[in-house]
Amino acid sequence: MSDPAGSAAYVTQNAQPQWRTVGRFTVVPSVARARFLLPTVSRQVTAASLLAYNALRPSRVRAARRMLGTAARLGLVGLSRMPVLTVEVPSDVDSRELWLADHLADVLGYDQLYPAIGIRPPDPNHKPTLQLFDAQARPRGYAKLGWNPATRRLVQAEAAALRSLPRPQGQTDYPLAPRLLTVEEWAGQVVAVIEPLPSSVRRLPDPTRPHLAAMCAVARRGGPPAEPRPLGGSDFIRRLARRAEEATAGPDSEAGQLVRRAVTALERRDAEVTLEFGDWHGDWVPWNLGLYLDDDGVDRLVAWDWEHTGSDVPLGFDLAHQAFQSALTLAGAPAETATLAAEAALERYGPQLGLDAIRQRTVLDAYLIELWLRTWTLACGDAGWNPALHPALPRLLATRLPA
Ligand SMILES: Nc1ncnc2c1ncn2[C@@H]1O[C@H](COP(=O)(O)OP(=O)(O)O)[C@@H](O)[C@H]1O
Ligand SMILES: [Mg+2]
Repeated sequence: MSDPAGSAAYVTQNAQPQWRTVGRFTVVPSVARARFLLPTVSRQVTAASLLAYNALRPSRVRAARRMLGTAARLGLVGLSRMPVLTVEVPSDVDSRELWLADHLADVLGYDQLYPAIGIRPPDPNHKPTLQLFDAQARPRGYAKLGWNPATRRLVQAEAAALRSLPRPQGQTDYPLAPRLLTVEEWAGQVVAVIEPLPSSVRRLPDPTRPHLAAMCAVARRGGPPAEPRPLGGSDFIRRLARRAEEATAGPDSEAGQLVRRAVTALERRDAEVTLEFGDWHGDWVPWNLGLYLDDDGVDRLVAWDWEHTGSDVPLGFDLAHQAFQSALTLAGAPAETATLAAEAALERYGPQLGLDAIRQRTVLDAYLIELWLRTWTLACGDAGWNPALHPALPRLLATRLPA
């Protein structure tokens, strides 16, 4: 590939003389269908990157990785027929400027870090991620890269959130949240490195059961409940109104107007409804949650992916989101059906959060508005519209909250 002046990376088919190798990967399973770049520096590192956190993966993937990981550990074939990608840098250049893993090793105080790199189809919402292992094959960090305005904002938001989360000590319902190790501006990108999840982490055995005590602990930052306050005149509804007003300017101004009218109708209809306001995780879904064994051998909840967290929202948003997103993403349901799933979850579990039928409806409508505003923010950041939510949500809101 030719090199535009000033670019720092080259892809070539042949090794360059006087360059030195900084990374070597097996491309799994092939260049055309690459899913994973597996570091092949040592058997242990290769095996660890296949086997670590396997209990989080769906059973088919888990079985394939276990097989490959065991083969890699034993130094057996299996990987040997897959293509190899070698990363080299010119000998006279400091590799920390060109090779992110070397930069991060330097920042985090390791001689060397070896990344295992997941590959997903190009998508403006996706962030490339690196699982970082040390020379002894211990996981040392999980790096997320923001590379366009939308993903840069998300990575920065997650880094800020991880810094400001409460860290209640002792026996508490607050879920474990991995800490931020560092956030870096590097080669025009934003990179957050997060501490590794506990090695015992595994998928939730019952992904539909909401962990209500943990949701409340998140909302209350591990403290006591807040005094309920009316929706009308709240900072929350003012914020929704301000953002919806901004959305009338585009990129789909008609939809922005529908949503702005929905906010007005919500405030008019439910001004007197009192709600408890607090934090939310913002993406409370089974695939961002797991169980792990704590030091006392007790199963506890761990929650990651805090990039959408926020404060001062009605208690119940995470409950609505879990049901909505599970229907939308796992079952492939349209937004209307996902809304019914959220309604059903609020009806079933809402009373345990102090939500009667009236409050359940308020929470659901406010959540749908919030969700569309999130979609709009991403669309404004070059990530495109999420077709599962847009234009379905503005239309749905127009019927649920007529002007
Ligand atoms: N700190 C971590 N340590 C190890 N693995 C992690 C860590 N954070 C995330 N992962 C794994 O990577 C996956 C994607 O990370 P996540 O933070 O959920 O990013 P995304 O925004 O792409 O969903 C997770 O579902 C989990 O399997
Ligand atoms: Mg996630």
